[in-house]
Amino acid sequence: MILFATNNQHKLREVKEILPALQWSFLGDFPQLAGMDPEETGETFEANAKIKAVEFGNASGVLTMADDSGLEVFALDGQPGVRSARWIPGSDEDRYLHLLQQLEGQQDRSAQFVSVLCLYDPRTKTEHFFRGEVQGKIIDEPRGSGGFGYDAVFVPDGDELTYAQLADEGRKHDYNHRRKSLDAFHDWWRQQSN
Ligand code: IMP
Repeated sequence: MILFATNNQHKLREVKEILPALQWSFLGDFPQLAGMDPEETGETFEANAKIKAVEFGNASGVLTMADDSGLEVFALDGQPGVRSARWIPGSDEDRYLHLLQQLEGQQDRSAQFVSVLCLYDPRTKTEHFFRGEVQGKIIDEPRGSGGFGYDAVFVPDGDELTYAQLADEGRKHDYNHRRKSLDAFHDWWRQQSN
């Protein structure tokens, strides 16, 4: 059993969809974790994933995984990056509209989504990292209603649809950076059990 430690309901749904066969537990299964919200003070996805996995892992006492993820836009020197969730105050929509504003008149629309998973074992105090990346571009106008975060403005390389439109069609995971990091973890996990 692995605790997938996140307060983000969208990540939770995706993990269940991507790896349904694994025995997951969630924060709601551990009353002692109620209200915990570790401060993400790191400058990298790895550092923040580790902060969350270690805090929740030590408090729960069980094998714990945390995801830190975000969107890196090349013309903005990698912003919003690790600050994707809190780049500006407001809603997900406010943040992607802010991104479109920042990119107005910008030729280089290239970007990548990154997901880093940290798996932490509180008994041995050891951790492992798994990374998934998807390259693509930021379009001019939002399209689609599925997904979350910046999904409505990101088109992965190899497709014409945004992540949000792909989610509407049930196809976001054909690309999803979180699917890639979970796949990397799953390969490793299966090797450990052999
Ligand atoms: P975290 O909870 O600190 O890892 O922040 C993750 C943030 O990155 C989310 O709140 C979104 O803004 C963004 N993000 C991560 N993954 C996705 C995704 O799959 N689609 C859209 N936005 C995402």
